[in-house]
Parts: sequence; C-alpha cells; structure tokens
Amino acid sequence: MSFRLNARAGEWALITGASSGLGAEFARALARRGYSLLLHGRNAERLEQLVIDLNKVRKLDCRVVIADLAREEGIDAVCQAARQQAGLRLLVNNAGYGNPGLFQDVSVDSLLEMQRVHNEAVVRITHAAMAQLMQAEGAAVLNVSSVAAWLPGRGSVMYYATKAFLNAFSRSLAADLSGTGVVVQALCPGFTHTGFHDPDKAAYLDKSKLPNWLWMEAAPVVEFSLRSLGNGRVIVIPGVVNRIFAWVGGHDWLYRKLVGNARRK
Ligand SMILES: NC(=O)c1ccc[n+]([C@@H]2O[C@H](COP(=O)([O-])OP(=O)(O)OC[C@H]3O[C@@H](n4cnc5c(N)ncnc54)[C@H](OP(=O)(O)O)[C@@H]3O)[C@@H](O)[C@H]2O)c1
Repeated sequence: MSFRLNARAGEWALITGASSGLGAEFARALARRGYSLLLHGRNAERLEQLVIDLNKVRKLDCRVVIADLAREEGIDAVCQAARQQAGLRLLVNNAGYGNPGLFQDVSVDSLLEMQRVHNEAVVRITHAAMAQLMQAEGAAVLNVSSVAAWLPGRGSVMYYATKAFLNAFSRSLAADLSGTGVVVQALCPGFTHTGFHDPDKAAYLDKSKLPNWLWMEAAPVVEFSLRSLGNGRVIVIPGVVNRIFAWVGGHDWLYRKLVGNARRK
C-alpha cells in the first residue's frame, strides 16, 4: 500500500524523543513536508529551541509534550495528546536510550524501565493514536527499532531484547492493520551520529575507536525511512553495512563464528 509523504493542511505527526538525534531529524524532515508537529521529549529547553529553529524555515503549527516515558503518568500524558490530536496521520515512536551493564550487575528495576520506555510506551501510545490514524487519509506508525534486534548484545540485554520485540510487534501490527490504510514500519538503524553515544550516556563506548564506515548521519537514515514508508516492507534497514550485520546476526552459528568468540576474549 503506498503512502503519501507530503502532508495536506491540518495533518499532524507525533514524534516521541524529538528533543535530540533521530527524533529532531524526523521533525525537520516532516516540517519540510508540510506536517504540523506534536513533539515529545523530556528536555523542554531543547524542544523549545527546535520549535524556534523549525519556525525559521517555515511557519508551522507545533505543540510540545514534556513527559518521562519511564513513568506511568508520562506515558498517560503522551497517550492523551495522541488521542486528542485531530488530523494525526503519522506516529513516530522514537524515544529510546542505551543501557550498559551486565544483566547480573544491574537492578531489575532498571532493566524493566527500559522495557517500559521501549515497549510498553510504544504499545500504549500506538493504541491511543489508533482512532485518529484510522480516520486519516492514509496513515503510518513508524517504530524506531535497531539493527540490535538481530544481535546478541553483551552488556545491554534489554536494549537488544526490547528492539527485537519492536520488530515482532511491528510485523504483527502491520498484519492486523492490513486494509485499514495504516502502514507500519520498524526502522532498524545501526551506529548513527546522535546524542545516543554522548559520553554522559554511553561512557562504555569510545566512538573514536570505531571505524567511520560503521557510522551513518541521522539525516540519510531518516530520509531512507520516510521514503520507504508504504513500499510493502515493514522491517527497514538503512545502509549496506547494517543490512550485512542484520543478516549475519540472523544466523546464530555464523555470528558466533565471526564475532562471538572475539568478544569473549
Ligand atoms: N544512534 C544510534 O546509533 C541508534 C542506533 C539504532 C537505534 N537507535 C534508536 O534511535 C532512537 C533515537 O535515539 P537517538 O540515537 O536519536 O538518541 P538521542 O539523541 O539520545 O535521542 C533520544 C531521545 O529519546 C528521548 N528519551 C530517552 N529516554 C526517554 C524517556 N525515559 N522518556 C522520554 N523520552 C526519552 C530523549 O529525550 P530527552 O533528551 O529530552 O531526555 C531524546 O529525545 C532510539 O530509540 C534508539 O534506540 C539509535
């Protein structure tokens, strides 16, 4: 089923985690395509600055929801905003973070917090948005997953597991929504230059030690995602390197042969 990318007057997109990285890039790309924007994040200052910057390019309707998706009331606030947003046509479930630490070393609360942000919030916000999306003339749910969905990841069990859930959820949701006019995508980026690997969030990773060819900029990832909407594929992987990673990761014996043993040294 095809998807009309450019918005008509009064059509809205809701983006979670829009205050930084891929979410902010989705906001810029969708503003250029005429959408009014309902932007979510925790950092009010950065969201306000984003709205100012977007308005310098094109005058647009923007609303902001500040909410922590690790908290019940935070998810409720975004659900309510989605439910009430007339003209909502595109939902981008993007908010997320990394969670370093071996399973046996971190608290069970912090493990389950990631499940809440990456999975529970996505399910609840998508469900809350459904009535508005079904009324639109062709709508989309875009879940930002990761190439990690295929990989066994030491030191970040819940990150890898919650992204695998997002892929499975998106595939089955697409089946349920078939024929309704709502398309679904699980976008699976690999290493992308955003705030995700900033030293305060990912002290475990020294970016300078990773080769350049592993990385993509946020803008081409977002363009690839948007242009792929409605092309019949639910799982969308930007970049050849990431597609190879996903393929290798999908074959456990091959992954272990190529990467697994090296990692255990
Ligand atoms: N960058 C990569 O290499 C990469 C690769 C694969 C997948 N991804 C996925 O891409 C998505 C976007 O990440 P990014 O790379 O753009 O990182 P980022 O620059 O750190 O942005 C993350 C966004 O998620 C929001 N967020 C994080 N925890 C939240 C919480 N508890 N409640 C509400 N919002 C929360 C942040 O809000 P505040 O800043 O306002 O707190 C921010 O807007 C994530 O789902 C991530 O898993 C990233």
